Amino acid sequence: MKSYFITGTDTGIGKTCFTAGLAMAMKNSGIDVGVMKPFSTGISQKTGYQSEDVKILVEASGTKDDESLVNPYFFPIPASPYMAANKLKTAIDVSLVLDRFEKLQSLHDSVLVEGIGGIMTPILKDYCVADLIKDMNLEAIIVTSSRIGTINHTLLTCDTCKKYGIKTKGIIVNNFDVTGYAVDELASDLKNLSGVDVLCTIPHVDGCNADKISKILIENGMLSAL
Ligand SMILES: Nc1ncnc2c1ncn2[C@@H]1O[C@H](COP(=O)(O)OP(=O)(O)O)[C@@H](O)[C@H]1O
Ligand SMILES: [Mg+2]
Repeated sequence: MKSYFITGTDTGIGKTCFTAGLAMAMKNSGIDVGVMKPFSTGISQKTGYQSEDVKILVEASGTKDDESLVNPYFFPIPASPYMAANKLKTAIDVSLVLDRFEKLQSLHDSVLVEGIGGIMTPILKDYCVADLIKDMNLEAIIVTSSRIGTINHTLLTCDTCKKYGIKTKGIIVNNFDVTGYAVDELASDLKNLSGVDVLCTIPHVDGCNADKISKILIENGMLSAL
C-alpha cells in the first residue's frame, strides 16, 4: 500500500484521530504500517513520548520505531514550527526530516505522515507544510469538519494542493461537531465543488479512540479506497 500525508483544514480538526484509526485498521488487516509526525509542538508529556499526538499514533500502529524517527522535531510551545523554532532559537533542518522519512519508508509497507496545523502552516520562512508534502512526494488526504465555513477551508486547501502540484487522494469529513452541515449533502457538494473524492465521513464518536475509529473506517470501506 502507498504512503500518505494526512493534512487538514485546521488544527484540532481530527488529523490524529483519523490517522491513528487508519493506522490501526491497516495493522489489523496485516499491513506493516509506520507512522510519522515530522513536527509536533505543544505541552510536553511527562512520561513516554514528548508529543501526545505521537503517543496516540505509535500506540495505534504498534510501531517499535524510535521517537527520533517518528517525530524528529518537538517544540514545547503551542505554535507553528516556524514560530516555535524562532522563539527557541533552534534551527530546523528539513533534510534530516526527509532522511528519516526515507528510513521509515524502507522499514514499512506504508507510512502515514500526520502534518501539523493546515496546509500553509509555516516550517521555515519560505517553506510550509505543502512544500514538505511535495518534497516527501506523497499524496495528500485532507481532513475537514462539517462546521459551517468548512467549504471555504476545504476548497482553499484543495486549491493549495493543486498549486503546489500535490495529488490529493481524497477528503475525510469528520463530523465531530454535529452542529454543522448534514454530512451526506456536504460530501456531495465538496466533491462537486473541488473535484476531489470524499473517501469517508466519520460520525461523532463518544470517547473517541483509534479502536473505535478503525472499526468505522473498515465498515466504510476506507482500506479499499486507498
Ligand atoms: N469523530 C470524532 N468524535 C469525537 N471526538 C473527536 C472526533 N474526531 C476528533 N475528536 C476530538 O477532537 C479533538 C481534536 O482531534 P485531533 O485528532 O487531535 O485533531 P488534530 O490532529 O487535527 O489537531 C481531540 O480531542 C479528539 O479526540
Ligand atoms: Mg494532531
